[in-house]
Amino acid sequence: MPLLAIETSCDETAAAVMHGAQLLSNTIATQEIHQLYGGVVPELASRAHVQRIVPIVSKALSQAHLTPNAIDAVAVTYGPGLIGSLLIGVSFAKGLALQLGVPLLGVNHMEGHLFSTNIKPDGPEPPFLSLIISGGHTILTHVRAWGEYRILGQTQDDAAGEAFDKVAKILGLPYPGGPAVEKLAVTGNAQAIDFPQARLKNATNSATARFDFSFSGLKTAVLYYVKKLSADELDKQRADIAASFQNALINALIENVRSAYEQSPARAVALAGGVACNKTLRQAFLKLGGQCGFQLHFPEPIFCTDNAAMIARAAQFHLANGKRSPLSLAPDPGLVLA
Ligand code: KG4
Ligand code: ZN
Repeated sequence: MPLLAIETSCDETAAAVMHGAQLLSNTIATQEIHQLYGGVVPELASRAHVQRIVPIVSKALSQAHLTPNAIDAVAVTYGPGLIGSLLIGVSFAKGLALQLGVPLLGVNHMEGHLFSTNIKPDGPEPPFLSLIISGGHTILTHVRAWGEYRILGQTQDDAAGEAFDKVAKILGLPYPGGPAVEKLAVTGNAQAIDFPQARLKNATNSATARFDFSFSGLKTAVLYYVKKLSADELDKQRADIAASFQNALINALIENVRSAYEQSPARAVALAGGVACNKTLRQAFLKLGGQCGFQLHFPEPIFCTDNAAMIARAAQFHLANGKRSPLSLAPDPGLVLA
């Protein structure tokens, strides 16, 4: 039963074909135009999706050595995301499902990230904790069972990736900022500057415990620190600032996951989203896993950032349980996970 999945929620036009446990293809077109603007420009993203969706889907099918007629279902991200971007993927998927006479299924993008550790074998099985850290989201979820999620905490302001992107801009580094900050931080001293970590008043001792995050204070602290420096001083300290910022952000994530793990029964912890590519962060979580006794899972980088393979994997679960979407499916930019 080959399944075609389409993902266009933000600035990646992506398609994948999955057949049982086999990922037959996984194609992505990253929109480089946004680098000129230091962030995603929604209208440009929509226009780029319109141009790329047909070539990317054709590439996914040809890499899978399939014709469109061999596809048994079409899955598509219908939210959350940018409305103009979602509309392209959803409209295209509906047209294709109608033409082929196969079922359509709308997939929640965040649930796709939850499944990203399970595209390949040996992913975590529920119950586990999942930390999705991307450019648009920072969400800690208790995955009780597939399809049964409880959000334990999320960011109250900037997402973790957004903080990386904004700090990169402050330091004069290119977009997307995460990889640039990580590269520079390798040569810096993570203890050089004591940037503040937000301490939210999270209730931690009841069934309604919250483990929320806040990164805008950290970003502002970096901004004020940099504003006081001359151009020469900034040049000398750039790597230390990157390393100290990254360290503060990782510590904030670690502390919340540690507290959440102590509260919620879980077999494992999974990381997902673009920021989960960060090697220093992965090392810190591996160390935490050793201390707490949980197994840590993270997807390979190509499945951390937005991709259609994770949408295909989530769709397989729901299709197997009989879920289908009507051809009246509409994008839902504010869709939540649970
Ligand atoms: O998951 P993703 O591709 O898109 C969203 O759904 O938002 O994540 C993109 C984010 C960007 O903010 C980018 O700076 C960040 O992930 N990122 C990283 C790294 N690679 C990507 N952040 C820190 N370290 C990295 N190596
Ligand atoms: Zn995403």
